[in-house]
Amino acid sequence: MNLAVIGLQWGDEGKGKAIDYLASGFDVVVRYQGGHNAGHTIYYKGQKIILHLLPSGIFSPGTTSVIGNGVVINPLQLIKEIENVKKYGVTLEKFVVSYFAPLILPEHQRLDIVFENSRYIKIGTTKRGIGPAYEDLTGRRAIFARDLLDKDDFYKKVKPLNKYYNKLIGAYDGEKVEIDQYIDEYIEAGKILKPFAQNTVYLLNEYFRRGRSILFEGAQGILLDINFGTYPFVTSSNPSVGGIFAGTGLSHKAMGQITGISKAYTTRVGGGPFPAELSGESAEFLREKGKEYGATTGRPRRVGWLDLVALKYALMINGVDDVFLTKLDVLDEFDEINVVTAYETAGKKSDVFDPSIDYLSSVKPVLKSFPGWKKNTGETVKYADLPPRARDYIEFIENFTGVPVCCISVGAAREQTISRT
Ligand code: GDP
Ligand code: IMO
Ligand code: MG
Repeated sequence: MNLAVIGLQWGDEGKGKAIDYLASGFDVVVRYQGGHNAGHTIYYKGQKIILHLLPSGIFSPGTTSVIGNGVVINPLQLIKEIENVKKYGVTLEKFVVSYFAPLILPEHQRLDIVFENSRYIKIGTTKRGIGPAYEDLTGRRAIFARDLLDKDDFYKKVKPLNKYYNKLIGAYDGEKVEIDQYIDEYIEAGKILKPFAQNTVYLLNEYFRRGRSILFEGAQGILLDINFGTYPFVTSSNPSVGGIFAGTGLSHKAMGQITGISKAYTTRVGGGPFPAELSGESAEFLREKGKEYGATTGRPRRVGWLDLVALKYALMINGVDDVFLTKLDVLDEFDEINVVTAYETAGKKSDVFDPSIDYLSSVKPVLKSFPGWKKNTGETVKYADLPPRARDYIEFIENFTGVPVCCISVGAAREQTISRT
């Protein structure tokens, strides 16, 4: 059965690790949205590898890895990653990228940087040009991967865009981008990518027709979704389940199981409301234990308790079947662990996650406390061998949300995964 693996929080839930663990059972792994704002960490032969664009199934021999039409691509970043994984013996015989993926141009990145720097409300973007590239798509002026095939044609398409962007960049006192600075590198990258490029819409539908199993790899998380996240502190795509259809060309009939990934606590990189956020010593402790520094930008991640109000919202809007709970081991040393079970607003309790800034900045989290298990869980193989207090914690989450926890991750390595099925 096909499987969608989707982040349930503000990204960095451990999707890379979870997908690497799950991928070997699938014929195809496909990325459907986002770009190299994503940073998915995988351990392969004991080495840490961070994938930004390549699907996390790339290390499973026999699995076809596809970058779908919904992903925005910086071609230079993509060839850099291809070169990197080749060092680990990955052959890329089964790697495919969509001709119809919109390109991220240097102009997009420059605007992302200068606009972000001058904004009153700072989103804290990854400064990769993601927002402007998606804006071009909906603005009907995007340049696509297939446009790299012909230099003259590419130049003709880029010229008016370059003018448009340089005006905007200039308005924010940024330095203009000249097409000549990058065109040759982009065309060269196009030549390198050509053997991998296809119409992935037909390819994926053909796989589906032939009964091949497909894993959809989400980037970011539901709370960063452009439609359902904490707007404007969101990314410019749909990490939620709806993004799969627009980003692959497969219909709802190709949807099978939906597995949501959540940490056993919460993190967030960049600005925006975060009701369960911790500060002070416990925040420091959690950040250090969880090594909570961004895989893409290196920024320290903001940290907090698991927010069950937010989690229930994410589960609801994605029709999630089960939860893959990650980083349980990070809580091993805590004397006391809390979860948010409700928000207090105007003296009343609410279980509504209204993603508006005004609401989320004003609510007070209602906490439920658990005694810590104070035991190492990193070596645990079977669920029954987890400390009883850790099981109580997991089972509380299941009962509260009504969604079962299928897997528990107790370390960054592929093997450090407890499956309950
Ligand atoms: P992604 O963006 O969702 O793929 O997550 P990231 O790779 O950005 O961040 C997750 C981080 O946690 C990475 O450094 C992983 O190696 C690490 N990680 C994943 N699962 C676990 C786990 O169960 N325990 C611990 N300690 N680390 C984990
Ligand atoms: P993965 O796939 C965590 C955040 C940025 C910023 C906001 C908008 O590794 O989970 P953007 O550059 O997308 O315009 O930034 O979204 N963000 C992420 N946070 N994990 C990610 O990806 C993220 N991708 C974007 O920090 O707050
Ligand atoms: Mg990440």
